[in-house]
Amino acid sequence: MKIAIMGAMAEEIEPLLSQVTNIRKTEYAANAYYEAEYKGKEVVIAYSKIGKVFASLTATILLEKFGCDRLLFSGVAGAIDPDLDIGDLIIADGLCQHDLDITAFGHPHGFVPEGEVCIPTDSYLRNVAKEVASKKGIKLKEGIIATGDQFVASVEKKNWISKIFDAHALEMEGASVAVVCNALGVPFFILRAISDSADMDAGFDFDKFLEGSAKVSADFILEMVNAIEDQ
Ligand code: ADE
Repeated sequence: MKIAIMGAMAEEIEPLLSQVTNIRKTEYAANAYYEAEYKGKEVVIAYSKIGKVFASLTATILLEKFGCDRLLFSGVAGAIDPDLDIGDLIIADGLCQHDLDITAFGHPHGFVPEGEVCIPTDSYLRNVAKEVASKKGIKLKEGIIATGDQFVASVEKKNWISKIFDAHALEMEGASVAVVCNALGVPFFILRAISDSADMDAGFDFDKFLEGSAKVSADFILEMVNAIEDQ
């Protein structure tokens, strides 16, 4: 078993790199990949840069070049669900692309022919997360996460995403990683800690809480790596 751990930004993988051992760095396709070990498990860590295109590229390389057979995403998100506060964790049960729009042809938002609006994450990995959370007494939400190539800082926009996709949080990479892993048949999992509420204060809050929330997510992911069993 070789587990890919992916973030979008350097801040999202730094707390991972500081806790793994035996790090070997490879430069590939204009990005850095870190093969390492965590408590006897093989991991490959990388951040993609922000957005769906970079995230698809990095996820593909982690699976196809480095041979990872599980992918865990760690990072931050904007909250839609009012029950989610800064630093709270949410796992995606499914991911959709809120900015994918061919409604002009009568299709629903987020849908293209031969695709699906919402791609489900791996149920075993979700169960591992729930077990870790309950053992450690950590609050863990589960729900739909909406992805798009936009930093959302508008109550109107987030309410629209909530209404159309029934989403609980939003970010800029998860659904593209889901498309790649789904197509290649690799079990995947998306975890996010809240950095902002996608409202008019979102830019300010994101800068203020990125590092702290990214660490909350990374620490949880490493607990999961420790708990994942070779199936
Ligand atoms: N990631 C964290 N906060 C976000 C926001 N408000 N919009 C998009 N992606 C985010």
